[in-house]
Amino acid sequence: MREFVSKKVKDIQPSGIRKFFDLVLGMEDVISLGVGEPDFITPWVIREAGIYSLEQGFTSYTSNKGLYKLRLSISRFLKSRYNLEYSADDEILVTVGVSEGLDLALRAILEPQDKVLIPSPAYVSYGPITELAGGIPVYIDTRSTAFKLTPALLKKYIDKKTKAIILNYPHNPTGISYRKEELEELKKIILENKLLCISDEIYGELTYDFEHTPFSTLKGTKDFTLYLNGFSKAYAMTGWRIGFICGPEAIISAMTKIHQYTIMCVPITSQMAACEALHGGKPYVEEMKKEYRRRLQYVLERLRNIDLEYVEPQGAFYVFVSVKKTGLSGMELASRLLKKEKVAVVPGDAFGKQYLDYIRISYATSFENLKEAFDRIENFLK
Ligand SMILES: Cc1ncc(COP(=O)(O)O)c(C=O)c1O
Repeated sequence: MREFVSKKVKDIQPSGIRKFFDLVLGMEDVISLGVGEPDFITPWVIREAGIYSLEQGFTSYTSNKGLYKLRLSISRFLKSRYNLEYSADDEILVTVGVSEGLDLALRAILEPQDKVLIPSPAYVSYGPITELAGGIPVYIDTRSTAFKLTPALLKKYIDKKTKAIILNYPHNPTGISYRKEELEELKKIILENKLLCISDEIYGELTYDFEHTPFSTLKGTKDFTLYLNGFSKAYAMTGWRIGFICGPEAIISAMTKIHQYTIMCVPITSQMAACEALHGGKPYVEEMKKEYRRRLQYVLERLRNIDLEYVEPQGAFYVFVSVKKTGLSGMELASRLLKKEKVAVVPGDAFGKQYLDYIRISYATSFENLKEAFDRIENFLK
């Protein structure tokens, strides 16, 4: 039979998270600490805005870039929240989640064999979408620096073919984030080498110990930064599939071309709901953030009690835990824990092949579930 699937796609590995969670499907009574999505339902005021827009008959396409009123709301939100200035006319594109924004960014900027730096462990899509866009992902292992990219580490990996870096903070899967001073140090090197910083700040609103600093608020970075954010995590809107990307007009316009021919526009219902999220969503974000923080403290306490090591997270809803002490790899531990105690966690190697000794725990589940899951984990380790 003729082979229809391209070599490029055949060579891409399916997401390790999906592979593992196919095992979970069909099992009963499993407590999942695996998924990377809020356990909260989208706040009612936001859902209501989506429903009301349908009742009013808003069922059409929108402008390719997204409803102007949404772009204006995004622009105003960024100005008031971070003193960031992006024009609603030509510096903002509404995308199908941050996922689409990342893909568009790479497709718009990469020439074949251009290199993209990816501090790792890393969110599962960065490497594969870089390859699909014709680039070469270059992974920077951050184990020796407590999962943080440092200026020295960054310098080591830059060469003539390096075009961009994907920064992500607060970070999936480790939860670490960067303070302004740390970002300033990284900025110097990024600017010296004229790299584009693709800054995935989807967890920005879920920063616990200090103020989140968007990379493009640092002096001199605006022409060198794409700022990505979305509604999935902070507003518990994963299923609405909506996010946005802000940056220099030339890149936004290049991305809009691809978006125009592939997606056309984000569903209008999601755009209408997102407008409401920016107007009336803040108290709900604060409430959810408070609850994540309470759960994080609890998870860390339980981890200390069972003597497993971790680097203290500063945001998002994940902890990346070393299981080396147990004598099991992350994959072995995750599989046995699932079979014996029906608790699902993600093996660390889903986020890069070096992270065999880790698991990712997501605390985007109820406090009661966390309690029961840790009782079972403790039982398992005994
Ligand atoms: C770091 C990171 N970036 C992007 C995404 C994708 O988000 P969206 O739902 O906006 O496509 C995720 C989802 O888990 C994520 O963890």
